[in-house]
Amino acid sequence: MFSIQDILENPPSDEVALRGWVYRIRSSGKLSFMVLRDATNIIQCVARKEDIAEEKFKEFSSLTIESSISVTGKVSKDERAPTGYELRITDFHIFQRNDSFPVSKDISEDFELDNRHLWIRSREFNAILKIRSTVFTAFREFLLKEGFYDVQPPLMVSTATEGGATLFKVPFFGDEAYLTQSSQFYLETFIFSLEKVFTVSPSFRAEKSRTWRHLTEYWHAEGEMAWINNEGMMDVEEKLIHYIISSVIEKNEAELHILNRDIDALKESLKPFTRMRYSDLIKNSASYGMPLKYGDDLGADEERQIMSNFKTPIFVTHFPASLKTFYHQPDPSNPKEILCHDLLAPEGYGEVLGGGERIWDLNLLLERMKESGLKEEDYYWYLDLRKYGSIPHSGFGLGLDRLCLWIMHLDKITNAIPYPRTIRRLKP
Ligand code: 4AD
Repeated sequence: MFSIQDILENPPSDEVALRGWVYRIRSSGKLSFMVLRDATNIIQCVARKEDIAEEKFKEFSSLTIESSISVTGKVSKDERAPTGYELRITDFHIFQRNDSFPVSKDISEDFELDNRHLWIRSREFNAILKIRSTVFTAFREFLLKEGFYDVQPPLMVSTATEGGATLFKVPFFGDEAYLTQSSQFYLETFIFSLEKVFTVSPSFRAEKSRTWRHLTEYWHAEGEMAWINNEGMMDVEEKLIHYIISSVIEKNEAELHILNRDIDALKESLKPFTRMRYSDLIKNSASYGMPLKYGDDLGADEERQIMSNFKTPIFVTHFPASLKTFYHQPDPSNPKEILCHDLLAPEGYGEVLGGGERIWDLNLLLERMKESGLKEEDYYWYLDLRKYGSIPHSGFGLGLDRLCLWIMHLDKITNAIPYPRTIRRLKP
């Protein structure tokens, strides 16, 4: 069986059979048009009264949107058809004839989200899913080529990574477990065996804030490397992001067009990324239209404004230790700042990645944990890494849904993931 895309790329002279779903319908007396869709594309099909039996013509003319069908016919070029070709039907078989399909273009946001299981069939969401597939594949491809191993840390855990405020608690046989906020600490354990590792898995944050870029369950692509510092880690990440964007531009031009994404604007991000210290960002902040003072955190609103001034991502480095979690390595020349980085996406999108050097000295780590009110016994295995062959190392966490949001230039993160989980949404 051919796909629609096969037919459009190599139109056969013989009769062909296609199968899929009814995307659009229109009848006018002796002609009945139906646009058929499958996973790959759409094609206009036409039934003519003179080609098929009267009963069949009637049946075809009363088709409904999203009914499932197979069709047989001959393909010919037709400039007026949406994808340039038309299939003239000689026969068809209906698998299931629908009642009227509940989801169309003019529906409210909530209705669309309640019916996401149906909306993912739309051309827009089909394009979004294809681009996501490229992004996820490209992430893995790049790191495997660089000699990383794909590892599988647990998702049900007993410790926080990014602070207690956003921990999801789950009952665990009379005890309490958490859904992981980040696999970072487990990735750190793996580097003592494999040196370069990554994982792509969900992370969970009990985010009470409802913003355009927060999910409670999101896809986290995390990497960890032995023997590398903050600068070296950023070098790897910059190449990684360039690779992902190049892959999307190469493989998904058609989908980017469906989403009206300005591809030239996206290509700007194939240029080198500026690295800017947090203190310099603060000094420049008024000129970005967002005056800030040293010690202020960067949230969704601040980053939206700052990054609307940029066409290419920037790394912001050397944040004050007070703004970040306990595990970051202090800068030896100014221990109040840490050797870390956030990657902020341009066009107003803001943070998509956070990373940096990890504290590898046991006593310093114990000191920082004490300041954060964490109990040594809960983190005994994390501390063991600093007791047995400790080494300098760095890592990062890339939010793949946020990366997709920016690459596709969508308005909010709930449109970048098929089944978003937010404070108000657990269905479908
Ligand atoms: O900056 P975060 O919290 O860093 C960590 O979790 C580190 N432990 C990662 C590491 O070094 N291995 O999260 C990393 C990224 C953010 O830059 C953002 O892209 C994404 O995860 N992220 C979210 N995405 C969607 N919804 C949320 N609620 C997110 N919280 C973080």
